[in-house]
Amino acid sequence: MKYSYQIKSLDEYKNAYKKSVEQPESFWAEIADNFLWLKKWDSVLEWNFKDPKVEWFKGAKLNITENCIDRHLKELGEKPAIIWEPNNPDERVRIVTYNRLHKRVCQVAQMLTNLGVKKGDRVCIYMGMVPELAYAILGCARIGAIHSVIFGGFSAQSIADRLNDANAQFIITCDGSYRGEKVIPLKDVIDDALVGNKTIKKVIVYTRTRTPVSMIKGRDVWWEDEMEYAEHQVEKNGIVQFPATSMDAEDPLFILYTSGSTGKPKGVVHTQAGYMVWTNYTFLNVFQYKPEQVYFCTADIGWITGHSYIVYGPLSAGATSLMFEGIPTWPDAGRFWEIVDKHKVNILYTAPTAIRSLMAHGLEHVNKHKLNSLEVLGSVGEPINEEAWQWYYKNIGKERCPIVDTWWQTENGGIMISTLAGVTPSKPSFATLPLPGVQPCLVDEHGNEILGNEVSGNLCIKFPWPGMIRTTYGDHERCRTTYFATYENMYFTGDGCLRDANGDYRITGRVDDVLNVSGHRIGTAEVENAINMHTGVVESAVVGFPHDIKGQGIYAYIIYEGKLTDEDQTRKDIMHTVSKLIGSIAKPDKIQFVKGLPKTRSGKIMRRILRKIAERETGNLGDTSALLDPSVVEDIKAGAIQ
Ligand code: WTA
Repeated sequence: MKYSYQIKSLDEYKNAYKKSVEQPESFWAEIADNFLWLKKWDSVLEWNFKDPKVEWFKGAKLNITENCIDRHLKELGEKPAIIWEPNNPDERVRIVTYNRLHKRVCQVAQMLTNLGVKKGDRVCIYMGMVPELAYAILGCARIGAIHSVIFGGFSAQSIADRLNDANAQFIITCDGSYRGEKVIPLKDVIDDALVGNKTIKKVIVYTRTRTPVSMIKGRDVWWEDEMEYAEHQVEKNGIVQFPATSMDAEDPLFILYTSGSTGKPKGVVHTQAGYMVWTNYTFLNVFQYKPEQVYFCTADIGWITGHSYIVYGPLSAGATSLMFEGIPTWPDAGRFWEIVDKHKVNILYTAPTAIRSLMAHGLEHVNKHKLNSLEVLGSVGEPINEEAWQWYYKNIGKERCPIVDTWWQTENGGIMISTLAGVTPSKPSFATLPLPGVQPCLVDEHGNEILGNEVSGNLCIKFPWPGMIRTTYGDHERCRTTYFATYENMYFTGDGCLRDANGDYRITGRVDDVLNVSGHRIGTAEVENAINMHTGVVESAVVGFPHDIKGQGIYAYIIYEGKLTDEDQTRKDIMHTVSKLIGSIAKPDKIQFVKGLPKTRSGKIMRRILRKIAERETGNLGDTSALLDPSVVEDIKAGAIQ
């Protein structure tokens, strides 16, 4: 593959950026010319942010799997597409070549067709990090079914809500998944999610852990059986074939649920062509991928980072993408570094929370490994603090590897603001400059753009980029009000940001009620709703507090009317309720029982005060004169959990 649109110098970056702003249509048309189209577009971009309506490459026909697989087969058929490293380092590594990936994806496409899945149907995928998860995603895309991957840490109730919202009829899951020493019984969780469900027609179960599972006659089928049957159908005289469905550029590709500041998670919808071009372009430019390199993104495919930078971005570029089933701290905290040496990883893309946790385990785990194959390091998911940045740079990259701090969101589809590795200068804790096509701006609370440098404000984007969210599934109005109504004619990110004297951007964190716990997005309202379901709870308020490893921890203030004979037991019960309703990732770290919450006369909770108490900044709580009853603050301060 030729990467003719890979930016190679600071000047080239500046030119590309300028062109992407001045002539966005010809800029993107030129890049899009490098892909495989069944029919070219009629127009490159049509848009307004009022509805919003964003259409890229309208009129074009394509199939993303032909771009991720088929077009590479002639030259790269025997190149590893996926290197799979199992949870247990003693288990056999699996190397999936592009030829093999092609065969497996054709089989999945055939299997899904056999089971009645059609273009446009929603298929929920709830699996561990096994290659079959990638086959499942791409198999859906091959027939135009819309995949909706749910992270393995979500509870049955969360799954049920998502199945319902997406009106899904099919599920692909595993019997269980391995995470370090634990086995997570995924099919059991699915069974709980399906109690009373009448819309799911088929559940396909891949065997990974041999955990006993209940298989319901007529509904549940084994992946292995169905795939074997499909194999005979797709392979004739040694030639593997399953025609890829021709998709419209703007047909949905997938739904991915993410948390916001209100209500239940929303289904972010990405479409075919724009998402493909965006993930490919950003992958090649940010990481500066070279054809022989091994690239390792440690994210889970249950999150957007895994979608864009384990599957679609790297595969569309014909890259070798390493997929890891396990966790960074098992069998010991040297696991990432062992993998890097074992597979001679050149590019490592991970999260600040992982870096901080490995940092805390000490250098002895790092120093046992050479790490001399590494050339580029990446960070994603939350602001990376300077200390973690320096540690990563010095001890992992040996001061030789540029770090790309990549800022972006589920809604963005791919990286928005980042250094281009070794091409544009990096700066600790700064994402630095926008990718070509991204027009960031800072606004004040009235929506006025803040011009100039050495300023800070709320981060918005002024112009559409190919990978952006198109709608929230089943509720377009929610998409409009969440992202396009706060400020006129702009996409609002929910992040605060500063621009320094050089024009470099630094993301300072969310300005809405969204927490970022270990890089996972969690809405405070979501956690509060779950806590409030617990018997005896009258009201609750949830805020974030700084946490050494997780970045942010969850602090819950709860008014409880039941008898508190054993506070600790009640805390555990409430945490259990949150685990059941959302998943253990949303469990509060600290729970304080309070008599009242600081409210204004109009009944609004003053979260600012609660945040300060959780942050232990009780010296200056700011103006409390608007409070209905200022004495509650003293009580809360006195009972604050350290
Ligand atoms: C935060 C993850 C600072 C930010 C790809 C954003 C970051 C939210 C960075 C999106 C970064 C992500 N620096 N903050 N490099 N990357 N964020 O949807 O607050 O899971 O709004 O997407 O993570 O989280 P999401």
